[in-house]
Amino acid sequence: MSESIRLCSVSDIKPDTARRFDVGPHRIALVRIGENEFFAIGDKCSHADYSLSEGEVYADQYEIECWKHGSTFSLKTGEPTVLPATKPVPTYEVKLNGDNIMVEIS
Ligand code: FES
Repeated sequence: MSESIRLCSVSDIKPDTARRFDVGPHRIALVRIGENEFFAIGDKCSHADYSLSEGEVYADQYEIECWKHGSTFSLKTGEPTVLPATKPVPTYEVKLNGDNIMVEIS
């Protein structure tokens, strides 16, 4: 069973940036691409304990880079696309409810 949790308003996150949210035990990196696309992935690199939301967002590739050693992760699948990380990070479904950005947590 999943729960829908409000993270923030659309205006709280700038296009092509990421922001961290802690929801219970879940560390979530919310990423906005352009005006209308939102992705939520685990905000802990699978290589070591560093925050992906502090890394560069590559909007054209739908990827975010871990600033520590340079692995990039797909915002759509959570899979790493560059070494040294080899394991995916979790992904969460994002929904808009009016101006509210909601994330589905199971
Ligand atoms: S901690 Fe992220 S690539 Fe090493």
